[in-house]
Amino acid sequence: MKMAETGTILHNQIQYYEELASTNLKALELAKQGAAGGTVVVAVRQTAGRGRMRRKWESPEGKGLWFSMILRPTIAAEYCAQITLLAAVAAAQALQRLTDKNFSIKWPNDIMLDGKKICGILAEMALAADGSIEYAVVGIGININMSSEDFGALLTATSLYLATGIEYEHEQVLKAFLDEFSLLYSHWHSCGFASIRQAWLANSCTLGQKVIVKDNDTEIYSGIAEDMDDYGSLLVRNAAGKIESFDFGEISIRSC
Ligand code: ATP
Ligand code: BTN
Repeated sequence: MKMAETGTILHNQIQYYEELASTNLKALELAKQGAAGGTVVVAVRQTAGRGRMRRKWESPEGKGLWFSMILRPTIAAEYCAQITLLAAVAAAQALQRLTDKNFSIKWPNDIMLDGKKICGILAEMALAADGSIEYAVVGIGININMSSEDFGALLTATSLYLATGIEYEHEQVLKAFLDEFSLLYSHWHSCGFASIRQAWLANSCTLGQKVIVKDNDTEIYSGIAEDMDDYGSLLVRNAAGKIESFDFGEISIRSC
């Protein structure tokens, strides 16, 4: 794997905004204009926070940490899934360190606590003409001080406050994440994916679960999630014993 960026500079390049439609959109715009790898975009509130599969991400003012990182790894497109898996490991480990609670990773990169989602990750990439990644934007939402009323009908979500009774500072959570991410990102540059894969597997609540693979809304495969391969794809064994690998975007999981 060939990479040029070291990833140790993220703390020095944080841009704060009171309001953005989406930190991912802003970061994509900045990256397109040439912003440096390592730039971080934070918003107090997002008016159109984006989740995976074109879903909406609830991002009320000051209740959570809504941010995106611009990364410029020199990397073949076949390894791109590893960036989001790396971010999930960093988020789980940072939150664990901060709170002493046990967080798990639901495929591919939801961070769960007590069976509810506390953090979501949305990575978006621009490819260069030769198929390599020109830049990646990794957007992360961490619910910090949301109460049950803030979540309303969203019964599948939780926050650090709901789980611990403690009101964490946004700065503290951002620093914890960036410390963890910088270390893992540098390690990935020098040593590759193997130990990050191990950490993802160790924290995963997806292994052993039944998963459904969909093409748009049509189910095309189902089975038990058995492992992750060296590229970051999930290996699923169906009822006939056949094992297939799948990227994210394609898989939904009934429970975790
Ligand atoms: P559809 O919009 O097609 O009805 P949906 O109900 O899954 O599908 P949304 O209601 O838009 O879509 O929710 C998007 C997903 O993101 C849901 O799974 C929701 O639980 C989750 N979600 C949104 N905001 C947050 C948040 N701040 N914390 C945790 N989960 C969230
Ligand atoms: C998901 O779980 O579906 C992914 C949610 C990602 C939400 C974050 S909040 C900061 C960044 N900006 C966005 O619009 N989305 C991501």
